Amino acid sequence: MYENLDELREEVLGCQNCGLAATRRNVVFGVGAPGAKILLIGEGPGENEDKQGEPFVGRSGQLLDKMLEYAGLSRKKNIYIANMVKCRPPQNRDPAPEEIAACMGWLRNQTAILRPAIIICIGRIAAVSLIQKDFKVTKQHGQFIEKNGTLMMGTFHPAALLRNPVNKPAAMEDLLGVAKKAQELGLPL
Ligand code: URA
Repeated sequence: MYENLDELREEVLGCQNCGLAATRRNVVFGVGAPGAKILLIGEGPGENEDKQGEPFVGRSGQLLDKMLEYAGLSRKKNIYIANMVKCRPPQNRDPAPEEIAACMGWLRNQTAILRPAIIICIGRIAAVSLIQKDFKVTKQHGQFIEKNGTLMMGTFHPAALLRNPVNKPAAMEDLLGVAKKAQELGLPL
C-alpha cells in the first residue's frame, strides 16, 4: 500500500510491467488537485502527452479542458486526471487488453489514495474496462452507475468529439451533470 500519490508516482516511473515501457519517452502518471474527489480517466497518452509527461495536453486535451472549465471543473482546482495505461501505445493504437491489465494495479492504487466520489470514464476504452464490458458510449453516456460506493459515468472522448462535433452538446451536458452531482454531494469545487 502506498501512503500518497508522490510515493506511488516514484514507483510507476520505473514500471516495466508491459511492452509499452520499451517505446515510451515519459510515463504519464496523472495530474490534478491533491484533494480532488472527481477522478477523470482517459485511455492512454498520445504523442504530446508522451513528450510532456502529462495527460491530455494535445488537441483533444485542450478541448477537454475548455469543456471542463465551462462546467467549473479543472485539473488545477477540483479534479484529478489519469489514464487506463500510463505509457503511449505506438502510433496511438488502442491499448491492448494485456497492457490495460498490466497497468490496472497502478490505477487501483491511484483510486485507493484519492478515494473519489465520482469517476468519469472518458471514451469507450475506459468505460468498457471500468463500468461495464459492453458499455455503449452513444447510448449510456451521462448515466451515473454506483459501483462500490463510487458514482461512475462514461462520456465521449474529446478525440471523438473533434472527429464528430455533433456530440459536443451531449458531452457538455454530461460534464455539467457531474458538476451538479458534485454540488449535491457537497464535494470540494
Ligand atoms: N487521450 C487520452 O485518452 N489520454 C490522454 O492523456 C491524451 C489523449
